[in-house]
Amino acid sequence: MLLISILVAFTAFFHSAVAQRVWAHVIVGNNGAYTKDQWKSDIQLAQKAGIDGFVLNIGTPWAGTIENQVSLAFQASNEVANEFKLFFSFDYEGGSAGPWSAGDVRNILGWYIENYSYAKHPYTAFQNTGKAIVSTFEGSANVGDWTGIKSTYSSRGIYFIPEYTSQNPAWHQARLNIIDGVFSWNMWPEGANDMNTNPASDPDVAWKGVNGQYMMGVSPWFFTDLPQYNKRRLWRGDDLWHQRWEHVYDIKPQFVQIVTWNDFGESHYVGPIFNAGIPNQPNANAHWYVDNMPHDGWRALLPHYIATYKNNGVEPAVTTEKLSYWYRLYSKNAGNSNGVVCNAPWQTTYQPSVCIQDEVFVTALIKTLPATIRVQIGNNAAQDYQATKTGLNHFSKAFNGQGAVSVQIIRNGAAVLTGTGAQISAGPPSSDTRANYNAWVGCAPATQAGAGCT
Ligand SMILES: *[C@@H]1O[C@H](CO)[C@@H](O)[C@H](O)[C@H]1NC(C)=O
Repeated sequence: MLLISILVAFTAFFHSAVAQRVWAHVIVGNNGAYTKDQWKSDIQLAQKAGIDGFVLNIGTPWAGTIENQVSLAFQASNEVANEFKLFFSFDYEGGSAGPWSAGDVRNILGWYIENYSYAKHPYTAFQNTGKAIVSTFEGSANVGDWTGIKSTYSSRGIYFIPEYTSQNPAWHQARLNIIDGVFSWNMWPEGANDMNTNPASDPDVAWKGVNGQYMMGVSPWFFTDLPQYNKRRLWRGDDLWHQRWEHVYDIKPQFVQIVTWNDFGESHYVGPIFNAGIPNQPNANAHWYVDNMPHDGWRALLPHYIATYKNNGVEPAVTTEKLSYWYRLYSKNAGNSNGVVCNAPWQTTYQPSVCIQDEVFVTALIKTLPATIRVQIGNNAAQDYQATKTGLNHFSKAFNGQGAVSVQIIRNGAAVLTGTGAQISAGPPSSDTRANYNAWVGCAPATQAGAGCT
């Protein structure tokens, strides 16, 4: 008996030492005007959602905004003093001063990796042990820099898990003397499809197969219309936020990275809208598709998704029933597609309407059965779904008219939880007929505005 207890204690210890973790990608440049208190507020919202830390995406140059914001982020995280961690993703494509130099990377790591709030792996709470986690956004041409950078910090050790999705898994396999794991940016479906989860051709299986140290990307959406950067495209979001988490349970990656917390220009933010972070140059202005399109409701079920991931895919008992729901505000055929295409330039492109679906997407977290989930658009016919299990139940309802959206959990003939959502209308206003392919996201029970329902 004693031996068994000791074994159980040991197993628990080692399990926690290599704990799976969930990070969220923060574009530091978009927080250029943040105060320390705003960093604290974001850290607290992220923690409330069960997120373990932020991946700080930084582009060149370091001096100025990035340097200041990184310092504020670390100060805020230290002051919140709650085991929230930060690590860098050196963005080799996003900076105005070109790709990172090895010298700058070495200096920045020297300043921050010993910080208590710098993420380590493997990590034991309240001990600053483990190697410093470091990632990139692209930069595979500079992979050779990392042998020297890593050797500079060999006493701490660097756990290097770059995002080099432009190179294939075999390329990564040939560089396991430099890289410690893989992060892939392939997290949106191609064309009129959901993500490929066929084990024989599933990209997540291939990426995890490089060396088993996989950081899996999870993103809810992708739509961008920024002519200045020649970025006018979308990938199907639709059921993705729910389906991708379910796939996390199959893949069982070491880490999950949510993409993103605050990339407003690509419409995949799950953090609060920060007005000054929305692109607003004359020929790259995202206000028309981000303003009044909150995504906080995508955080509502994160504590449950994350707990399930960390519990080997077994859902924990539900204590509070919740709803999360999202949709575009008019038909995919309304408005002017404005040169936006479905898919990226390296894929076959289609009209947006070919790839996306006119539906209200709903995920309900159910405590007890039976439960009916009812979705109604305006005064049009409602549609009922019977929950099939306690825990997560995901549905979608095809658009059948216009009006405000209502989503309810009904039990014994009475609504026990009601969420309301923005109006579905005929199309964009006549003053600006560009089609907005961003999602409006809601949740219930509602808390203070903008804070999500977690
Ligand atoms: C972490 O970095 C911040 C910002 O530079 C600094 O204020 C803080 O003292 C550092 N903390 C530790 C424990 O190194």
